[in-house]
Amino acid sequence: MKAPVRVAVTGAAGQIGYALLFRIAAGDMLGPDQPVILHLLEITPALPALQGVVMELNDCAFPTLAGVVATDDVNVAFKDVDYALLVGARPRGPGMERKDLLEANGAIFAPQGKALNDHAKRDVKVLVVGNPANTNALIAQQNAPSLDPKCFTAMVRLDHNRAMSQLAEKTGKHNTDVRKMTIWGNHSSTQYPDLHHATVDGKPALSLVDQAWYESDFIPTVQQRGAAIIKARGASSAASAASAAIDHMRTWAQGTAEGDWVSMGIPSDGSYGIEPGVIFGYPVTVKDGKYAIVQGLAINAFSQARIDATNKELREERAGVEHLFAK
Ligand code: NAD
Ligand code: LMR
Repeated sequence: MKAPVRVAVTGAAGQIGYALLFRIAAGDMLGPDQPVILHLLEITPALPALQGVVMELNDCAFPTLAGVVATDDVNVAFKDVDYALLVGARPRGPGMERKDLLEANGAIFAPQGKALNDHAKRDVKVLVVGNPANTNALIAQQNAPSLDPKCFTAMVRLDHNRAMSQLAEKTGKHNTDVRKMTIWGNHSSTQYPDLHHATVDGKPALSLVDQAWYESDFIPTVQQRGAAIIKARGASSAASAASAAIDHMRTWAQGTAEGDWVSMGIPSDGSYGIEPGVIFGYPVTVKDGKYAIVQGLAINAFSQARIDATNKELREERAGVEHLFAK
């Protein structure tokens, strides 16, 4: 067994939290030889419910769970953490867009960014799940001036997984046959799931499906999947979101497979014409705990228009929260 690492999860008594904590504690995120100490943050009224979750975690007797800290103090929650999964936020209800949550949730991520800045390990890996995830990640990053901006990422892995599953089903193959899926931009209905570089069983995806399905079925289905789940379940996705969060962190820690990539919301650096200043979904490879944008992909006019649209939305979201950035 390795030395334990500290993993913070906010919103730990919520529905994603309940689907997430047991898998992290069981070793699904960082491996069966990596003990974890969970740091669980909740708001004060949710602490009794959180205590119940802690009792259940203990009752699992996981070999990889090395301790649990449960608190409503953000400074305790982020003390010396190696990983932070920022889940706690208000989910949207029927009829809302994720950006309708900006005001309600934006204020949560400024103090959390500052607490990470003050207390977390200097190479902390931060994943923002709470919506609107990309812009919440930007708020946290902009309140953490002494951390590397690249410590802050947002989750588009659920969209990536949804896109893989849709494509596998359409082509009669398995998810494991799909490579090089890309989600560009925002975790919102402007996101662009791009099949131009994807392959299924080694063949170009777009040679296996017709353009009408790609444009009128695949793209809107992936873009609207969160809303479809809210309509069907009466609550936003939880187990699939937790699973994608595990995938995102596992890939960041352990790397991407040879010949493949994943999608991560990361700080834009000018690649593909996205000026710095937003957290943007990009295709990335990961090695030794560091992600790198896949460069040199050909972008046709169809793709460029969609990348521009999601970039525009992220710039607008940014303009609405700049007052929350540390001066
Ligand atoms: P939930 O309401 O069940 O749980 C949220 C929890 O966060 C609650 O227990 C609440 O008490 C807690 N919380 C609120 N403010 C907090 C704060 N300041 N500090 C710590 N905890 C706080 O919601 P959920 O279904 O678990 O969803 C959580 C978030 O994840 C929502 O914003 C939802 O929209 C988002 N989400 C994102 C994705 C994605 O792909 N990025 C997918 C699914 C859900
Ligand atoms: C999702 O994509 O399922 C989540 O972001 C929840 C939502 O509001 O759609």
